[in-house]
Amino acid sequence: MQLDPALLSSIAQKVGTPFWFYSAGTLRQRISEIKQVTSDGIQARFAMKSCPATKVLGEMHKAGIWIDAVSGNEMLRAMHAGHAGGQTPPVILYTSDVFRDNALQVVLEKGILPNIGSPGMIGQLAAAGYKGDVSIRVNPGFGHGHVNSCDTGGPSSKHGVWLGDLAAVAKEVEAAGMRVVMLHAHIGSGPRFEELHENLERLAREFAALLPLFPALEGVSLGGGIPHNYRDAASQIPLEPLRQLFARCREILSTAAGRPVRVEIEPGRYFVASSCVLVTRVAEVKATQSNEKGEGATFAMVDAGFVDLVRPAMYGSFHGIDVVPLDGKPRSSAPIVVAGPLCESGDVFTRDDAELLVPRDLPVPAPGDLLVLRDAGAYGYAMSSNYNSIGRAPQVWMEPDGRIELISRRETLEDLLRAEVSETVDL
Ligand SMILES: Cc1ncc(COP(=O)(O)O)c(C=O)c1O
Repeated sequence: MQLDPALLSSIAQKVGTPFWFYSAGTLRQRISEIKQVTSDGIQARFAMKSCPATKVLGEMHKAGIWIDAVSGNEMLRAMHAGHAGGQTPPVILYTSDVFRDNALQVVLEKGILPNIGSPGMIGQLAAAGYKGDVSIRVNPGFGHGHVNSCDTGGPSSKHGVWLGDLAAVAKEVEAAGMRVVMLHAHIGSGPRFEELHENLERLAREFAALLPLFPALEGVSLGGGIPHNYRDAASQIPLEPLRQLFARCREILSTAAGRPVRVEIEPGRYFVASSCVLVTRVAEVKATQSNEKGEGATFAMVDAGFVDLVRPAMYGSFHGIDVVPLDGKPRSSAPIVVAGPLCESGDVFTRDDAELLVPRDLPVPAPGDLLVLRDAGAYGYAMSSNYNSIGRAPQVWMEPDGRIELISRRETLEDLLRAEVSETVDL
């Protein structure tokens, strides 16, 4: 994503800092890359949890990308952005291991295909009078997340129905008067391309062997998990081999079924990671000195924190950082720790999952400079919070012709207090 320092500066003056800055052009480029590898019976969904902004969901709708949603409100947000409810075709898929809040109600009222991740959900659907079609999310026992806490296949993963239990669960579905029309597994976005390839084909073969159990099956989802290279933006995985792989998986499955089977994928991060940056302002630069407890460090204190972008604090994730000097003059480089305003020592952007401080060679900023955290579009704004009662930062959208639009404003104290009530609970 190309960044124009003067433009960022002007936007910062208008909307304040920090702010999220989306490039529609970059997003559309990623959408078209995915479209190119998903023609002919291969359907892409967008895992909307990664970035649920209406504007982004609208782009997916225009491009014919379907939706993977994980909550009642995500399904409703997708519909608000124009995606169709109902199951012909199942444009929105509800994937979860637990029905929470309004999720079951939205599935029933909007006719959304539920993708069941825990066997008990069948009983809950049946008790609510549901007699329609279902998808089953399977834990295939293998796979790889980009970090351990994102591992979605294997004994340590809470997701899905264990593969060995699938036949029994299929019987329960049948006994409840429902049909399994889709099988699903998400094997994670591990960074190694060869492994991703091997795992996806293995998954297709394992599902193919199970097809006799599912005479009503229409689709198989191979899950999400196209990795994005956060460390080296110029070197992303080649997508073309995936086109051939998806086509091969479709052939394996359709041959086993004796009829065309729709193959689905549902990336989140690959669609959106590169299309947004978090722009923050440097408040000051200060230092600690070495002593018997450890080495001193130089801290660039910025006004964004993990309430905005939590990935570094949560997973030790890496985000590229650019310094945009206020006066336009180049800055000399040194090892810098970039830290935020929260009352938490872990509010540090330059870190990994083992070390709290991983100083990075960066131009030493001056107070007032802007600092840009790159590749923040996936699990960025989506995971931001109101911790420390700091309202969420605004989202700004740029069209390729230079038009700039504010797509969500900065949250105010009134927003934070809106859900507070003082109501007696009559028991
Ligand atoms: C069921 C499911 N689908 C899709 C995704 C999207 O993964 P990613 O954003 O890494 O592509 C996830 C991520 O955890 C997931 O659990």
